[in-house]
Amino acid sequence: MGIEIAKILSEAEITECINLTKQAVGYMASIGFMLDSTTQDYLDYWVNISNNLNDNNILFLYKINNKIVGTVQLIISCKLNGKHRAQVAKLIVDRSYQNQGIASKLMLELEKFAFLKDITLLVLDTQTDSYAEKFYLKHNWMLSGLIPNYAKMPNGDLSSTSVFHKIL
Ligand SMILES: CC(C)(COP(=O)(O)OP(=O)(O)OC[C@H]1O[C@@H](n2cnc3c(N)ncnc32)[C@H](O)[C@@H]1OP(=O)(O)O)[C@@H](O)C(=O)NCCC(=O)NCCS
Repeated sequence: MGIEIAKILSEAEITECINLTKQAVGYMASIGFMLDSTTQDYLDYWVNISNNLNDNNILFLYKINNKIVGTVQLIISCKLNGKHRAQVAKLIVDRSYQNQGIASKLMLELEKFAFLKDITLLVLDTQTDSYAEKFYLKHNWMLSGLIPNYAKMPNGDLSSTSVFHKIL
């Protein structure tokens, strides 16, 4: 039980990541997919993530009994003038394991890792007024601003996105 940094995902792990993502989309989390996204859409996404894991694209997994129950990504900028910053993406915890501190542990580990890599600025965006937004505010992320109609919710409704940053 605990946090791992993935080098490459096995087929079983890809399936677990797909299930985790699908589940969150099913309860309307705005994480890049729609209610009518197909299994192939999820498969393409996770295979692509797995194939592109490297020093700048880091995937953290939280496992319990060898099963992935939480995940988050750290994407370090490759821009010559931006190597000090990174984006945080797709923080997801299996619903049956939420409110047990798993996302908090994943984010703490991600921040420690980023700090050791000389990253001094983290950015992320999330749906305005979502539970995730409250989570980030509670974890001392600064609200940079709101972008109206930035993304569609899984049901197709346009929603505002809150952009956050954190200085490490
Ligand atoms: C946002 C999300 C990742 C949070 O995951 P989580 O593992 O439930 O988060 P945590 O357990 O760390 O924190 C949630 C709550 O549990 C509480 N908690 C923390 N440690 C705890 C523990 N050991 N025992 C019980 N509760 C605990 C926290 O204080 C927090 O309380 P709050 O609701 O008052 O803020 C989860 O809701 C999720 O996957 N949502 C869907 C996907 C999504 O929208 N992701 C954001 C993409 S940008």
